[in-house]
Amino acid sequence: MTRSILILGGTADARILAGRLAQESCDRILLSMAGRTLSPVEQPVPMRSGGFGGASGLADFIRTGDFDILVDATHPYAAKISANAIEAARLARVPLVVLSRPAWQRQPGDRWHEVDTVEQAVAALGSEGRRVFLALGRQELLPFETAPQHNYLIRSVDPVEPPLKLPHARYITARGPFALDDEIRMLDENRIETVVSKNSGGSASYGKIEAARRLGLPVIMIDRPRQQNDAPLNDVTVPDIAAALTAIRHQLSLLEKRGE
Ligand SMILES: NC(=O)c1ccc[n+]([C@@H]2O[C@H](COP(=O)([O-])OP(=O)(O)OC[C@H]3O[C@@H](n4cnc5c(N)ncnc54)[C@H](OP(=O)(O)O)[C@@H]3O)[C@@H](O)[C@H]2O)c1
Repeated sequence: MTRSILILGGTADARILAGRLAQESCDRILLSMAGRTLSPVEQPVPMRSGGFGGASGLADFIRTGDFDILVDATHPYAAKISANAIEAARLARVPLVVLSRPAWQRQPGDRWHEVDTVEQAVAALGSEGRRVFLALGRQELLPFETAPQHNYLIRSVDPVEPPLKLPHARYITARGPFALDDEIRMLDENRIETVVSKNSGGSASYGKIEAARRLGLPVIMIDRPRQQNDAPLNDVTVPDIAAALTAIRHQLSLLEKRGE
């Protein structure tokens, strides 16, 4: 029986997972993107773009599209859509598989200063001007406008438009994965003194963290948002793509057994 799988994406993991699922079965797979990136990379399966209109909109989309399972493979900092996924899976009565890369753990030699919010990261930079590397999204960059004393190097996938209201900011656009040697060179050549980062997990953006350790630089690490909603009973959270494939197959076989 052909099954229908809805994947909430916006990450490399979601793209790879969708490709693997498409390779190994003839299930119908739809990858959903928020539609934020100007030129998203090509996806291996059919795609849709844009919000659903909250948890109830997502639940309606699941019901009318006859999806059997929902997979949340969004970024760990995309808290709203993940909370919506939990609620929508409950409303539409479909199993939910959540792919969430474990957070990076502090290693010997790391000089991390952990904070809860971007605003706290800005405050942690201090009042004296520093050379700061930021790899954050546009919304997360805005609070840095309150700290114009620093000299910023800002890296993003899309250009930051309009540019921030900051006297000393330079911009680079690049899409990961980023190699360790390139990250060491980039931090060194730009005489960066502090790195501000989200704790994304995975290897694609870990290069800057390892590079900071090698160079003895402090990292202001913005912790992950805490999940507000209680997970439904049939929620499964897995740490990587292989485990996600196993969990999805398992959930589909349970549906088969129940004759749903
Ligand atoms: N936040 C990050 O640091 C980060 C980093 C890399 C990639 N991303 C990706 O960028 C997207 C947006 O991130 P965000 O932090 O703005 O998310 P968010 O705050 O959790 O979501 C805001 C709203 O955007 C819509 N949305 C988000 N992801 C969607 C998806 N995959 N498909 C359809 N609609 C989606 C939903 O709108 P409705 O309520 O109208 O459905 C959601 O309520 C996510 O897909 C995420 O995986 C985020």
